[in-house]
Amino acid sequence: MPPPSTAPAPSWARSSGAPADVLVVGGGIIGLVTAWRAARGGLRVTVADPWPGGGAAQVAAGMLAAVTELHYGEETLLALNLASARRYPAFVAELTEASGQDLGYRECGTLAVALDGDDRAELRELHALHERCGLDSQWLSGRECRRLEPMLAPGVRGGLRVAGDHQIDPRRLSSALLVACARAGVAFRRERAARLLVEDGRARGVLLAGGGELTARQTVLAAGCESGRLDGVPPEVAVPVRPVKGQVLRLTVPAGYGPFLSRTVRAVVRGGSVYLVPRENGELVVGATSEEQGFDTTVTAGGVYELLRDAHELVPGLTELPLAESRAGLRPASPDNAPLLGPTALPGLHLATGHYRNGVLLAPETGEVMAYALTHGELPEAARAFSPRRFEGPSHSPAPRPALPQELSA
Ligand code: GLY
Repeated sequence: MPPPSTAPAPSWARSSGAPADVLVVGGGIIGLVTAWRAARGGLRVTVADPWPGGGAAQVAAGMLAAVTELHYGEETLLALNLASARRYPAFVAELTEASGQDLGYRECGTLAVALDGDDRAELRELHALHERCGLDSQWLSGRECRRLEPMLAPGVRGGLRVAGDHQIDPRRLSSALLVACARAGVAFRRERAARLLVEDGRARGVLLAGGGELTARQTVLAAGCESGRLDGVPPEVAVPVRPVKGQVLRLTVPAGYGPFLSRTVRAVVRGGSVYLVPRENGELVVGATSEEQGFDTTVTAGGVYELLRDAHELVPGLTELPLAESRAGLRPASPDNAPLLGPTALPGLHLATGHYRNGVLLAPETGEVMAYALTHGELPEAARAFSPRRFEGPSHSPAPRPALPQELSA
């Protein structure tokens, strides 16, 4: 028999209770879906967050816009987005069953419209990109757009009908995930993680702001744009996320008003994107600004003005509706706009962040990918392009050069 080791036991072995298999830092939609899927896969999971279910989930509009938010050079991301969109119906059914809650999922499609000649040319380009990528997207005249949505401004010059871009209510989604997590045995620690614990070259959990420790065999950083601010993360682990502020309004279509909009409607106005997401309960979400303002979530007069001005150009009748709420949230953007998923250079440390504009859309796929990574120690084949290791080391290139339009058609 070998002699007993004189080296100090690792901190997870010194914890009073047994360490969790997985500690998820961050209880937003991405942290919760990771925790839920990992727990459903048989792992013992703890989530650390002072306000689980808060953050961007309380602000986001919940568009599942894999096709209408496609950008040149993002075909790899498109594949992940489409995979997640395909998972949505089964994911919603399973989560509804697991939580007993309605998620506000609507298979309503999206109409992207053009208000002037420049917008029309831009939308035509997007349509051509959709066709090159084999996506379901139909060009409509202005009149056809207004037939679908009579509240649209008479000046609408044409549009794209994308039947597969749906919506979900992110507040309901995060609330259902909280219940499903609790029912699956996930433990919650309502405290801020202050520092990553690293011992013998391995992540061992976190030191909490209140002084306690949470230890686990594997730690997942899923704290949105805060993920890059956790102390103690070694320099060889790149967490290149930055906040991109989005201001969002919520209006109310009064009961008995009649149909206002029947699907998500969006447009590019003066170079900025505006979208209107109508819920079945009468809520009409108007989003969103896109601002590089650091960690600032102030709602500004300018932001509200911009949103109402652009939304009014699109749907003039909207200014009659009561304004119920204005909020700002922070999108966790990565250098190439794609998420950072799975193991890092530090054993025991995973990332699930950097989802930028697609956090709600990517929830089902992220849950599956992270549960796989946490049980197998590596990413599934289809998600390898999203490894955080693409940004690690001296030779990392922060952002792959976007493909040119002519390259996309090749
Ligand atoms: N996906 C919508 C937004 O980020 O504003």
